[in-house]
Amino acid sequence: MKEIAIRLNGEIRRVVVNPNETLLDVLRGKLGIKTPKEGCGRGDCGACTVLLDGKAVRSCLILAIETDGQSVVTLEGVGRKGPTALQKAFVKNNTFQCGFCAPGVILSASALLAGKPQPTEHEVREALAGNLCRCTGYEPIVETVLAVARKNGRKATIRRKRP
Ligand code: FES
Ligand code: FES
Repeated sequence: MKEIAIRLNGEIRRVVVNPNETLLDVLRGKLGIKTPKEGCGRGDCGACTVLLDGKAVRSCLILAIETDGQSVVTLEGVGRKGPTALQKAFVKNNTFQCGFCAPGVILSASALLAGKPQPTEHEVREALAGNLCRCTGYEPIVETVLAVARKNGRKATIRRKRP
């Protein structure tokens, strides 16, 4: 057993973990974070996606002990000051059906847009390739992310035009 400290959704949290406990198990079982889901438990579905130091990762494949000192963001931490443009777009477009995949998709897409505000369709599909969705057929998800990317493009153009 070892105590680790992570910055979880902006707050330092200390927790005692077993060397073989996954980040997913610690988040859900010890830290009260329920949005990362256990789908496959072996890195195939993306339902457990979280941001680790800003990068989308599958928390079922990462040992909690390895995350000591790092920043972890889950859906609980996204848009804490109000829903992000991406979250608003997903709601407006009624993109998800059962919603099981939604936390992982939102985090993967957020990581993409944070690094690349105007990704191409290919880049969106690539970024979301690890997030399985059994309901939507992916088109509404990809279209919503691209709609936000187009909006980012318009905002960037307006900023450039301002003196
Ligand atoms: Fe982690 Fe499926 S539960 S990828
Ligand atoms: Fe049901 Fe994606 S909306 S799995």
